Amino acid sequence: MKASISIISGSSSQALAGRVARALGCHLADIDFSTFPDGERYLRISGAADIEYAVIIQSTSTDSDYISLLQTIDACDTANRVDVVIPYFGYARQDKRFKDGEAVSARALAGTIKADQVYTVNIHNQNVLSYFDAPATDLNAAPVIGERIAAMELDDPMIVAPDEGAIELVRSAAEHLGVDFDYMEKTRLSGEDVLIKGKKMDVSGRDVVIMDDIISTGGTIAETTRVLDENGANRVFATCVHPVLVRNAVLRLFASGIEEIMATDTLDKSVSVISVAGLIADAIKEKR
Ligand code: R5P
Repeated sequence: MKASISIISGSSSQALAGRVARALGCHLADIDFSTFPDGERYLRISGAADIEYAVIIQSTSTDSDYISLLQTIDACDTANRVDVVIPYFGYARQDKRFKDGEAVSARALAGTIKADQVYTVNIHNQNVLSYFDAPATDLNAAPVIGERIAAMELDDPMIVAPDEGAIELVRSAAEHLGVDFDYMEKTRLSGEDVLIKGKKMDVSGRDVVIMDDIISTGGTIAETTRVLDENGANRVFATCVHPVLVRNAVLRLFASGIEEIMATDTLDKSVSVISVAGLIADAIKEKR
């Protein structure tokens, strides 16, 4: 008989965990999160001793999300099997030593995860998967984003990656939809500013969807929108897997002329209108 699954929601992924539990028709554990007066976090899972197969779901966009994930894994130590789903894995962009003496942050953090199986969603660089001790599988949200784009009434649509790094994501969604795609050339000037070189790209009069893995400060998408406007694009939309959206990113995007921002629920934000719950549920069912 298969062990019964309990979904354990980390503090940062409550909506997504609820959706995965519903998709799998399984038990959603009751967790108490609180913070001590000195700022240390406390976590307790009710009925933890009865959990056979724990599936923990927690994105880690802040350091305290990471602490909470480690605490959740520890609280599940009596389960027979523990799968850890990290839909958005923070620090994945520091996936190698760019300059002498730097910490490879993604490696440092991945090495602390004790699990039987790890899942991520469109991790920034697939190399990071090898830093986990457990087998790690990266799930691809491009087809579900593609379905959302297909449901929009777009005029002669095209999907554009703001840099070469996002081309595989864009290719995967565009091929799913059977629409044109291309990529821009990006040079990062600072943490907030980028230079996008408008390659010769025929966007005149077309509706364009810019697609990236992460939108953080919004600088990349805002600058891409400016170049697309210069090239005569009709309407410009933005979509991403992980809406990190720091500071005034949403404002910056709308001010640049973006019509709509559509992201997945790997992070729970107001623009998280596309769910990856089905993707996660299917992956769990497949490996069960
Ligand atoms: C970088 O390589 C990523 O794929 C994104 O393009 C980047 O994180 C976006 O950052 P921002 O929104 O701050 O320009």
